[in-house]
Amino acid sequence: MTSDTRLSDSIIIDIENITKDYVMGEEIVHALRGVSLQIHSNEYLAIMGPSGSGKSTLMNMLGCLDTPSSGRYEFNGRDVSSMTDDELASIRNREIGFVFQTFNLLPRADSLRNVELPLIYAGMDPETRRERAAHVLREVGLDDRLHHKPNELSGGQRQRVAIARALVNDPSIILADEPTGNLDSKTGDEIMTLFENLYQRGHTIILVTHEADIANHARRTVRLRDGLIESDDGGFGGIDNLPVEDPLPANATVY
Ligand SMILES: Nc1ncnc2c1ncn2[C@@H]1O[C@H](COP(=O)(O)OP(=O)(O)OP(=O)(O)O)[C@@H](O)[C@H]1O
Ligand SMILES: [Mg+2]
Repeated sequence: MTSDTRLSDSIIIDIENITKDYVMGEEIVHALRGVSLQIHSNEYLAIMGPSGSGKSTLMNMLGCLDTPSSGRYEFNGRDVSSMTDDELASIRNREIGFVFQTFNLLPRADSLRNVELPLIYAGMDPETRRERAAHVLREVGLDDRLHHKPNELSGGQRQRVAIARALVNDPSIILADEPTGNLDSKTGDEIMTLFENLYQRGHTIILVTHEADIANHARRTVRLRDGLIESDDGGFGGIDNLPVEDPLPANATVY
C-alpha cells in the first residue's frame, strides 16, 4: 500500500478536546486536559511521554474502557458518548484488540483457553472457536504451546498468547500499552515484528511506549506531556515517509 492510498483512507478515531479528571478526595487530578487526535484506518501510531503524562488514560478512552469527563469521541463516525453499554462492549469485543504490559492472561487456563475467551463472550460454538484460537496461536508461532499455562511459558511467549487473544476476533485496531515493557530487547524485537506484520496486513496499530527504539517502528509519534499533546509528527510517517518521487503532479489528469 502506498502513502497515497493511506491518505485517502477513512478516519477511524476522531477525538476533540477530550479531558479526564479523577477526583481524589479534595484533590482533582487532570489526567487529560484537552486532547484532540484523528487516527486513520491502517495507521501505525506510537504514543510517548513521561510517566503520569496521561498515556494509559488516553488509551483507555480510545479503547472505550473509560469515558472522558468532557470532549467528543467519534469511533468510525459514531458518537461514543451516545452508545449504550452493550454497544460499547460490542465495539471492544469486535473492533479492538488490547495488549497490556503485564499480559493479563488467566493463570490457570492454557494458551488455547486464554485465546478462546473473547470468542466465548461472542457466543461462538466450541468447535469453531477452538479451531480459530489454534489458528491464531499458529500465526504467532505458538502451535507447539497450545496446552501450556502462562507460568509454563517465557515472557515473550506469554505476550504472543496475549497478542493472539487480541487478534482472535479479527479487530481492526490493536491497542497496546507498553507491550514490550516486561521483555528483554530480543524478545521485544520479535513482538515488534509481529506488530509490523499486522500493520502490513491492514490493521491499525496504536502503541504506548517509553522507548524510542520501539516508537521507531511506528509511522507516526504523538508525545504527551501533563495531559496535553506536546508534539505530533503528522501522521502517515510524517514528511520523511512520503515517496521521494511523486509519480503524478497534484494537478495531473488521470486517464
Ligand atoms: N484511576 C485513577 N484515579 C486517580 N488518578 C489517576 C487514575 N488513573 C490515573 N491517574 C492519574 O492520572 C495521571 C495520568 O496517569 P496515566 O496512567 O495515564 O499515566 P501514564 O502516562 O500512562 O504513565 P506511565 O508511563 O507511568 O504508565 C497520573 O497523574 C495518575 O496519577
Ligand atoms: Mg501507563
